[in-house]
Amino acid sequence: MWFLGWKGESGFSASSTAEQVTQGIDGHGLTAIVTGATSGLGLETTRVLALRGVHVVMAVRNVESGTKVKETILKEIPSAKIDVMELDLCSMASVRKFASDYISSERPLNILMYNSYYAYGQSKLANILHAKELTRRFKEEGVEITANALHPGSIITNILRYHGYINAVANMVGKYLLKNVQQGAATQCYVALHPQVKGISGEYFMDSNKATPTHLANDSELAKKLWEFSVSLTNQK
Ligand SMILES: NC(=O)c1ccc[n+]([C@@H]2O[C@H](COP(=O)([O-])OP(=O)(O)OC[C@H]3O[C@@H](n4cnc5c(N)ncnc54)[C@H](OP(=O)(O)O)[C@@H]3O)[C@@H](O)[C@H]2O)c1
Repeated sequence: MWFLGWKGESGFSASSTAEQVTQGIDGHGLTAIVTGATSGLGLETTRVLALRGVHVVMAVRNVESGTKVKETILKEIPSAKIDVMELDLCSMASVRKFASDYISSERPLNILMYNSYYAYGQSKLANILHAKELTRRFKEEGVEITANALHPGSIITNILRYHGYINAVANMVGKYLLKNVQQGAATQCYVALHPQVKGISGEYFMDSNKATPTHLANDSELAKKLWEFSVSLTNQK
């Protein structure tokens, strides 16, 4: 539980903030592309990486909001190096198609019984599988690039804004039970910058420590299928 502050091997816990896990680290010379940078975890990740000297490219679907966020961060960190680029992420429909074709035996899901929570979970499973397959391919090609996946924890952000009563309950009790945004952005800042993670690839992190994902995430055949499926979708365009 984050509020107990148990530290893992890294020396950090679920209650560590993004500023704490990157304390003293010099990110000058590095470039990070942050998606969803206009709000919640993406915004705090952008702010803290910029604070550490990283050149941050905010990849946002709304350039106007992105520019406003950039200006706000620049007021706090005048030396920050931030660019804004337009990027619309893929739709849930692609993930649903993959899930129904390849993992429906584990999680019944079909077009008539759409469940947004299953679909959301499967989109996160796809993130982990993607990092694993990317790692396998980098190794096969002898490329020194790493790819990892992570779970930021449960954080009060705008994420539940379309889920009326759940959002209301989360906002009411969340401040006592969930992480705040500064804690929620910690794991991605840790994985992006901390020397402990240098050279580590294909792993899954939680609370700024290595963690074990669901068994499906370790299915290398599924990871390959996801890769091929993604290529087939993007080649069609
Ligand atoms: N909060 C949690 O408890 C939690 C837990 C686990 C994982 N996560 C993951 O962490 C990430 C950030 O979540 P958050 O809690 O920070 O949510 P958030 O406050 O709602 O922020 C979501 C961000 O994603 C952007 N976005 C949404 N759809 C997009 C699209 N189609 N193309 C490009 N950008 C898009 C939004 O941009 P606009 O400003 O244009 O809407 C916003 O900047 C998400 O992937 C979420 O699934 C969050």
